[in-house]
This record gives sequence, structure tokens and C-alpha cells, in this order.
Amino acid sequence: MLGSPCLLWFLAVTLSLVPRAQSLGPQDLKEEKEDETPRPPSHPVPCDYDHCRHLQVPCKELQRAGPTACLCPGLSSPAQPPDPPRLGEVHVVAEDGSAVVHWCAPLSPVHQYWLLLWEGNGAPQKGSPLNSTVRRAELKGLKPGGAYIVCVVAANGAGESSVPPAGGEGLEEVGGPALGPCRRVAVPPRPQTLVHVAIGVGTALALLSCSALVWHFCLRERWGCPRRAASRPTEGL
Ligand SMILES: *[C@@H]1O[C@H](CO)[C@@H](O)[C@H](O)[C@H]1NC(C)=O
Repeated sequence: MLGSPCLLWFLAVTLSLVPRAQSLGPQDLKEEKEDETPRPPSHPVPCDYDHCRHLQVPCKELQRAGPTACLCPGLSSPAQPPDPPRLGEVHVVAEDGSAVVHWCAPLSPVHQYWLLLWEGNGAPQKGSPLNSTVRRAELKGLKPGGAYIVCVVAANGAGESSVPPAGGEGLEEVGGPALGPCRRVAVPPRPQTLVHVAIGVGTALALLSCSALVWHFCLRERWGCPRRAASRPTEGL
């Protein structure tokens, strides 16, 4: 008896307070409610994969391990040799005769990497193989004042990535925007060498001024003695 007038009054109040509610059909209300409930993301996000990051877990493994599906960058066919990696920063430590080389993976399946190093017109020296997660390696035994070329090579079951010819042709274009697998590395002379040079020049200057002083006093003595000797007879006269 009391319930139905109350319900009617409640309905009237709510409908008059929210005029827009009339324009919303029952279907719209349903859709709004559905949007509030959490749904699995419809757009897969890119995997947390950085092709320049050292010890980067391969993207396929990230996909398998992750709780939700993520997207990996597309790769070239495993039946083809990998594209060349991109050589990044080369940090030379002149005192140790060493350099740390960084690179970025190509968009290709890679099983291993290695570095090639050569000086001038010498034959390229192949470094030890590095696994596919590695993006950084150290070069050792660089001569102070030496000029080298360093390249990074990627390999898979189908072969290895290309490297510009050892003669150095093609390196200019590669070295320009620093997008290729190779880089010229100039090792500055050891600071000790510079100190030695400075000490040498200083010593030479000191010796020169000493000899100039000695020469100066010797001449004075030579000139002075005859003068004194010459003045004695005049005094005697
Ligand atoms: C790859 O090599 C690095 C450096 O030698 C090492 O730390 C890492 O554990 C290796 N990863 C695999 C999967 O073998």
C-alpha cells in the first residue's frame, strides 16, 4: 500500500533530476556498466625488449615467460644470415690500452657475435665468440697512439653478417653517421709519454741555460783576467 506511491515518487524524482537519463536507452546503460568491469587488454603491448641493452633476454623468451602476450619486433628469416649489427659507443681507455665496444642487435635471429679488430693494413683479428644476449665487449692490448678498425659480426645457422672489405673502402660511408658494424678507433698516446716529453723538454731547456751561464762566466773570466793582467803594468808604471 505504502510501497508503490513511494516507489513512484522515487522514480519521478530521479527522472526529473537526471533528464539526460531519459535519453540514455537501456542498451547504453548496459554498455557503460560493461566498460567499468576490467577486461583483458585488447591491444598487446610491445615486449620490454631493447636491442641495444647488454645481456638482453631474447624477445621470444620474454614472450614465453611473460604473464600476458607482448609483441616482438619482426625478424628476418632464420634461413638468411643476420643483418649487420650497429656499432655504438666505443670508449677508449688509453692508460690500459683497452676499449669497451657497445653495439645494437640487428632485426634478425642471432646465435652469436664476435669482434674483428685490425690495425692499418693488417689482417683482421677475430675475437672470441659471445652469446646472443651480449651487447658489449672489451678490447685489450691496444697500442698507445695506434689507429684501429673494429667491427662487430653477428652469426646464425645460415651464415654471418657482412663486414666492409678489410682494405677500408666503404668505411668512410659507414663511419659517417655511425650506423654500420665498423668504426675507426684512435688510441691517444699514453699520458705518461706526454709527461716524459715534458720532462725531456724541461731538462733540455735547463741544460741550455746552464751552459749559457757557464759560457757567460767563462768569457767574463777570460776577458777579466787579461784586463787585470793588463792593468797591473799600468799601475806599476
Ligand atoms: C652470455 O654471456 C654473458 C657474458 O659472458 C654471461 O654473463 C651470460 O650469462 C651469458 N648468457 C647465456 C644465456 O649464456
